[in-house]
Amino acid sequence: MKLSVIGCGYLGAVHAAAMASLGHEVVGIDIDADRIAMLAAGRAPFFEPGLPELLSEGLASGRLAFSTDVRDARGAAVHFLAVGTPQQADGHAADLSHVDSAIDMLLPVLSAGDVVAGKSTVPVGTAERLAPIVASTGASLVWNPEFLREGWAVKDTISPDRIVVGVAGSDGAPAADGTRAADILRDVYAASLAGGAPYIVTDFATSELVKVAANAFLATKISFINAMAEIAEVTGADVTTLADAIGHDVRIGRRFLGAGIGFGGGCLPKDIRAFAARAEELGRGESVGFLREVDEINMRRRDRAVYLVKAGLGGSVYGKRVTVLGAAFKPHSDDVRDSPALDVAAQLHGLGAIVTVTDPAAIDNARRVSPQLTYVADRDEALRGADAVVLVTEWDEYRRGLSPEHLATLTEGRVIIDGRNGLDPAAWRAAGFEYHGMGRP
Ligand code: UDX
Repeated sequence: MKLSVIGCGYLGAVHAAAMASLGHEVVGIDIDADRIAMLAAGRAPFFEPGLPELLSEGLASGRLAFSTDVRDARGAAVHFLAVGTPQQADGHAADLSHVDSAIDMLLPVLSAGDVVAGKSTVPVGTAERLAPIVASTGASLVWNPEFLREGWAVKDTISPDRIVVGVAGSDGAPAADGTRAADILRDVYAASLAGGAPYIVTDFATSELVKVAANAFLATKISFINAMAEIAEVTGADVTTLADAIGHDVRIGRRFLGAGIGFGGGCLPKDIRAFAARAEELGRGESVGFLREVDEINMRRRDRAVYLVKAGLGGSVYGKRVTVLGAAFKPHSDDVRDSPALDVAAQLHGLGAIVTVTDPAAIDNARRVSPQLTYVADRDEALRGADAVVLVTEWDEYRRGLSPEHLATLTEGRVIIDGRNGLDPAAWRAAGFEYHGMGRP
């Protein structure tokens, strides 16, 4: 099928390349000429395992193209909307200006029978508002949220664990053009569906809510275990053993019970804030009032890590050399949006520490966001002479690839703060280090 993808950021670039790999003919459109030039040359504008290979294959096959001219989207059976919905500059709600301008841009190229499939994460009610605008061209709107994780984006797009499609309708029944549009999308995803992914056709509101509910649940799960970490800290309990023990209950599950400096990134933080803001608008703020607590617990964990560095250095970090292992919001990513790791580094710098940050992938992005910090790409070089080390992004080269014996040959001090509970405290203490974890004795 011929497809277009409007917006070639994280979501759109991966979606375009993945759809081409499934055999479709795809054009990716973006107003950012530099980004399009990179993609058209087969280079990924961000770190995502597997994406460069997929881009090269797609471009070589002739099935994948990129353009800044929306007219190149003409003739596509499905136009995917994959633009960003960041947090508003002056509030917690989502900024929908990119979605609105993408629709405006797309209208002149739409033909009767085309399907516009929104993938961006939007506040509930957005599809209902946009549907008549799209329908004025004879095209149909569906909402098809994306659940990809950074670092696993290619796999999550090609083999999703579910596909959700919200269609127009009334009283819980889909309209005729909604059913038709859902059938077209089913053809687009035929290869993924053959792998067993469930295909859930529903109304607009449910499809929009599925996405924010999923992210709210994940954020809540992380903040739940981090709240337990806070209790563990005043009782001498160990939150990692606690998580293992409750995680054996299949109703709870161990995944996303990793206590540490909390969640960040381009999705979870802004999505829970936008959800709370939307619920307020709907007069149901109290229904998700707990999300404010989830956010606050999350932000407190960053302060806790800073406190532990201070405590480890005798009460003050002023003039002390602190090496921060990690800048990305999680491993296998170069993304520093709302990164707890970079926040901890910046706070330590603000307190007068001489901070050196290292990261295998995120240094360039981190430097743009926090230019006041010193960045050293080579891990061992970054560690040399440190009074304290703080692990904030659990890359393998820090978690598994760094032994206490080796670190002892590099650092001045013997203090390690494990912001992700990724290290074995017994091994580090046995090697003479003062080890501090998050919610661990
Ligand atoms: C998330 C959702 O998982 C994905 O489905 C959605 O489409 C986009 O948002 P992503 O932002 O890529 O994906 O990151 P994710 O892997 O969910 O991790 C989010 C944050 O939570 C990271 O900062 C991570 O370090 C943190 N985290 C995760 C924890 O602190 N503890 C855990 O146990 C798991």
